Amino acid sequence: MTLVTGRPAIPPARIHELDAVVVGAGGAGLYAALELKRDLGPEARIGVISKLYPSRSHTGAAQGGVCAALGNTEEDHWEWHWYDTVKGGDYLVDQDAAEIMCHDAIETIINLEHLGLPFDRTEDGLINQRRFGGHTRNYGEGPVRRSCFAADRTGHAILQTLFQQCIKHEVTFFDEYQVLDLILPDGPKGRVAGVLALELATTELHAFRARSVLFATGGYGKVFKVTSNAHTLTGDGMAIPYRRGFPLEDMEFFQFHPTGMYKLGFLLSEAMRGEGGFLVNDNGERFMERYAPTMKDLASRDVVSRSIYLEIAEGRGIGGKDYVHLDVRHLGAEVLEHKLPDMSGFIRTYFGLDPLHDLVPIQPTAHYAMGGVPTDIDGRVLGAADGTIVPGFYAAGEVACVSVHGGNRLGTNSLLDILVFGRRAGKRMATDLEELPAAAVDADAVAATQARINALLASTGGERPATIRTELQEVMFTKCGVYRTEALLTECRDEVAALRERAQHLLVDDKGCRYNTDLGEALELEFLLDCAQATVESALARKESRGAHAREDFPDRDDVAWLKHSFARRSPETGAISLDYKPVTVTKFEPKPRVY
Ligand code: FUM
Repeated sequence: MTLVTGRPAIPPARIHELDAVVVGAGGAGLYAALELKRDLGPEARIGVISKLYPSRSHTGAAQGGVCAALGNTEEDHWEWHWYDTVKGGDYLVDQDAAEIMCHDAIETIINLEHLGLPFDRTEDGLINQRRFGGHTRNYGEGPVRRSCFAADRTGHAILQTLFQQCIKHEVTFFDEYQVLDLILPDGPKGRVAGVLALELATTELHAFRARSVLFATGGYGKVFKVTSNAHTLTGDGMAIPYRRGFPLEDMEFFQFHPTGMYKLGFLLSEAMRGEGGFLVNDNGERFMERYAPTMKDLASRDVVSRSIYLEIAEGRGIGGKDYVHLDVRHLGAEVLEHKLPDMSGFIRTYFGLDPLHDLVPIQPTAHYAMGGVPTDIDGRVLGAADGTIVPGFYAAGEVACVSVHGGNRLGTNSLLDILVFGRRAGKRMATDLEELPAAAVDADAVAATQARINALLASTGGERPATIRTELQEVMFTKCGVYRTEALLTECRDEVAALRERAQHLLVDDKGCRYNTDLGEALELEFLLDCAQATVESALARKESRGAHAREDFPDRDDVAWLKHSFARRSPETGAISLDYKPVTVTKFEPKPRVY
């Protein structure tokens, strides 16, 4: 068959048979794949599908560290870490899940060290630890050194370690494949038995039949104009189940990291403040002393980001503009060059400034999705707020919502989350596999995906994806960002709906089949639009302020009405979005006012 443009239509899907498929080659996906191989043995056919070469996954961009209460440099206890996680999440954290994460952190770090991770060392040869925001000593007093690190390249070291282990255990990699749909042999809301993916090098469609599937595809920060996220973080793994009728949990909670490089959004690690850096306004004041008298610059991220916005709103941004300064000059060359070498390099390269002598312009940057695909503590996907499990479907890492981060994640708990829950998901998949039968490829899903791609390739008019994406990023950043109101969110919802309408007519200029990034961007735009709609609908509904969801019109936290998780669902038939709610699991720490 030939398209109207003269280009041949994409051929029918090539079929692959595997035992388990892991989508995403960041820390969660790699750890799960490794556990699957280790538990099931060398004969097991475990495939990792990734739209990037694995060592380019976004885990590699994580800088400052991964936390565990090792107590290597000062007293610490995993229960303190647990409390900080719950408090940091503004009590929306499921405390049973956070207990597992904080308790298992210690063994997880030691295991990772044994797998070969080159952590920084104390003079005694122990894993070194540094301070991060919201991590306290003895339930609330001052920051504790809890973050284990490999300079400011901790994620990179984790990624390399796990990738090497996967190669050693002969995991099969399918690099540069864009996953587009789930194989649902029992129809919508039924079990999951594989995925459909586009090979980016050839634009060929592949069907991966598998008895179980793990999504570990990361977040969707590219929905915002200023973000620390890579270009590839477009919410694919959230949008794919969502458009098939599965819910997304707590999407209204999106973290803005306080120290993004001004206008660029690239992250300047919190480790810069952990090592002693601080924020100053146009008057040269250390303004965090006013907002968080105990923790100051190391209060939780939502608190620091809001404080920066308030300083700017009251005219104390630098030169009256929308940024403040990070001061690290006093840290000295030894700390900057040896503990923070990448950060120092970014400042020199992108700003032409010298961190030893210059103040650094920063603004909050969209960083991390606390919400995502709902799962239990073993990565099993929940099909509804009542806790129904979707057989054969698992999720881990930023794409998932366990929920261990609640309304606001603590710094360095993200690397911990991918390790603890990636590993648990892999182990659970290995246990469940026997009970999960193989299934045939869903011919209708293949036909629908083929038709979608062929239609995009056949387009001769319409708008370019980049035009709509840029407008989406602007509206999400300005109307669904750090501070929100009913009026802003309503405008945002209507504008996103209009963008979605315009995205029905996309122009894909490139008609070729070799690395057609034009086509890829059109497909990713559709994912971003799905995630944006779930976010803004959930945010409009939540009439309180909690964690990263700050409503100027509802400034207080309301535990009576809103101590619950949101579940947003989109009808595949009508596109209508509905919301359901699930209670938060409180096992030990009763909600109380949050003071830093
Ligand atoms: O600031 C940072 O290094 C980021 C860490 C994190 O998001 O956990």
